[in-house]
Amino acid sequence: MSNKQRALAEPFKIKMVEPLRTTTEAYRQEAIKRAGFNPFLLDSDDVFIDLLTDSGTGAMSDRQWAGMMMGDESYAGAKSWHHLQSVVKELTGMPHILPTHQGRAAERILYGILGGKGKTFLSNTHFDTTRANIEYTGAAALDLMPDAALNLELELPFKGNIDLKKLEDSIQQIRPENIGAVIMTVTNNSAGGQPVSMENMRGVREICDKYKLILVIDGCRIAENSYFIKHSEKGFENKSYEEIAREMLALGDAFVMSAKKDGMVNMGGLLCLRDDALSLKCINLLIISEGFTTYGGLSGRDMEALAIGLTEVFDPDYLHYRIRSTAYLGERLKKKGVPVVWPIGGHAVYIDAKKLYYNIPVEEFPGQVLVCDLYLKGGIRGVEVGSVMFGKYDSDKKLIPADYELVRLAIPRRVYTQSHIDYVLDIFDDILELRNKKQGMRIIYEPPALRHFTAKFEMIN
Ligand code: F0G
Repeated sequence: MSNKQRALAEPFKIKMVEPLRTTTEAYRQEAIKRAGFNPFLLDSDDVFIDLLTDSGTGAMSDRQWAGMMMGDESYAGAKSWHHLQSVVKELTGMPHILPTHQGRAAERILYGILGGKGKTFLSNTHFDTTRANIEYTGAAALDLMPDAALNLELELPFKGNIDLKKLEDSIQQIRPENIGAVIMTVTNNSAGGQPVSMENMRGVREICDKYKLILVIDGCRIAENSYFIKHSEKGFENKSYEEIAREMLALGDAFVMSAKKDGMVNMGGLLCLRDDALSLKCINLLIISEGFTTYGGLSGRDMEALAIGLTEVFDPDYLHYRIRSTAYLGERLKKKGVPVVWPIGGHAVYIDAKKLYYNIPVEEFPGQVLVCDLYLKGGIRGVEVGSVMFGKYDSDKKLIPADYELVRLAIPRRVYTQSHIDYVLDIFDDILELRNKKQGMRIIYEPPALRHFTAKFEMIN
């Protein structure tokens, strides 16, 4: 029997437990009603399996917790800072390392300097906070995915890639002097957590060299991406995951990281740069808004835990478990007949709610109905990534729907076991029985921006 067919035993054992509270469907009915049918407004205590995000929700190891006790809380030049700096320098090969309290703080600093009115940023796909920080400066953000990658079901190995032809055409059209930077999101979160190939990144580097553009790698899931390269891209079979990550980061001019993902910590971020002049400007903003250069937005113990997390994440047993356990959920959902975005990415499984609840029109938010049903049936919390999150209105207040109606089930790192995931799979049997339902939801309250966080809904009928 090959490794793949064996039960995927977690490569860790449990030293400390956090109890989960079970609730009844009647209780959850009241809870979701109180939350305005928006799972963001639920208390975590009312949630059984929380798949809202993989960001900052992971479990730290015994080594990381031991490191927390060793944290040096000195304001300047702390030992923990030197530890973190040396690990990150080795990984990125970049001379300037700026710690921040989370990913978007690094984005605000970098794009605050590179952005501004008249600038355009080009990316495989800008993550929401990346786009928001760019647009906040008055600049524009363009996503340039290959057409084939837009097909949710097509089996392709590197669907997170950027379209190199679209990239070069856009640069020529917009003019190189108006481009703020090219940003590669690795893995491509908003496109299903799909990986980016080394070949694609090399192609981007060549184009950036040709037009003298800055290449930023948003690599908060760089270790997960390395797994896909080692197992699916020719020439990388014998390289370690860390070597692959280093090779990819060597192609970038800057590295932005939300350490809450592959940093394996609950809070933290990094901004790493090659250029001295750009780094001086960023350091000024860092000191004004985050903290002194040797801690940014982090305490000494946070930096110690991150330094350790960044080495643990490349452990082959961990990465195999991580990618295969996400695939386990996705592959089994597909087998049951649940339409999922294919192939399965690194950190999450994305369900095509429009296809699953085929009777519910997009104006009635099938993705929002699905996240509520998952909560009602199983106490499972996921997030709608569809017209609630990305829909807009035309001048007659009519909904302009998003391109897709998806639901994301993101898997926290080292938190749930296979039996938790089997439970999620069982709940989908109940969900499949609901698929003929015809009624959706309407919005009864929404804020002017980022409405998915606080909007309230009611069931139609
Ligand atoms: N870039 C990417 C690709 C991300 O996925 C995130 C966060 C950020 C930047 C921002 O980092 O949250 O530390 O400020 N993604 C989380 C998610 C929120 O649920 O996917 P942050």
